[in-house]
Amino acid sequence: MSHGIRNKVVVITGASSGLGEATARHLAERGASVVLGARRSDRIAALAKELTAAGFKAIAVPTDVTDQHQVKNLVDTAVQEFGRIDVILNNAGLMPLAPLERLKIDEWDRMIDVNIKGVLYGIAAALPHMKAQRSGHIINVSSVYGHVVDPGATVYCATKFAVRALSEGLRKEVKPYNIRTTIISPGAVSTELLEHISEKDIQAGTKEFVRKIAVGPDTFARTVAFAVNEPDDVDINEILFRPTAQPV
Ligand SMILES: NC(=O)c1ccc[n+]([C@@H]2O[C@H](COP(=O)([O-])OP(=O)(O)OC[C@H]3O[C@@H](n4cnc5c(N)ncnc54)[C@H](OP(=O)(O)O)[C@@H]3O)[C@@H](O)[C@H]2O)c1
Repeated sequence: MSHGIRNKVVVITGASSGLGEATARHLAERGASVVLGARRSDRIAALAKELTAAGFKAIAVPTDVTDQHQVKNLVDTAVQEFGRIDVILNNAGLMPLAPLERLKIDEWDRMIDVNIKGVLYGIAAALPHMKAQRSGHIINVSSVYGHVVDPGATVYCATKFAVRALSEGLRKEVKPYNIRTTIISPGAVSTELLEHISEKDIQAGTKEFVRKIAVGPDTFARTVAFAVNEPDDVDINEILFRPTAQPV
């Protein structure tokens, strides 16, 4: 088992922008080998190239987390290339906010597929390797919206509550295998997340609110680094953070 961050093999879903990209940079700069998954293959390839050119270890594996076979391929590629998997950061997600009465059923399906099933597929892909290694660390990204529910965010909140529920069950189930589990629940962070809100009135209002208070994605990367860097006998199970200026 590797200690700290250096030499750990870290798989990151949603590594093409925002929190995932920032975490890839942060951990690679601290000596981790990062394996980048996302659909935008040009972005993750460019990031892997940049990190490699700077002397760090990174590879890109185009991945749609709604396809369990692609997620398995992401993790298996990490193991083939680097010999093991120490951490999986199940981070890919989307937040197309809208009240239920607008019946954005395709967006409900998409959130369930990416935010819940994508996390489960990440767990399914990593768990056999981590059980065999008798070590590993599964980090799932929830949200402040995994703790509170606001009108207009109902389905998104349901997916993020689900991430917390399945992470807590996972925590108890993997104890025999020496696997650590962490839920990270960020508040408002500046990323591309709001670009995918299709309802323009809601997007404008949310952007206005978030623009005033959001912190940078490095904030999230530091929380991941903290959990990963703790000694192996310490299991950081949950981190919830908000910008100091965030009221809800
Ligand atoms: N920013 C915040 O304020 C905030 C607060 C709480 C929680 N979060 C959570 O943080 C996570 C990251 O979001 P972000 O803020 O960094 O937003 P972002 O910049 O929009 O990044 C989202 C990432 O998810 C990936 N993704 C989306 N659908 C995917 C799919 N089907 N397969 C693979 N990857 C997919 C995107 O990559 P591709 O499009 O290239 O596939 C992208 O890399 C999400 O789970 C979000 O819910 C964010």
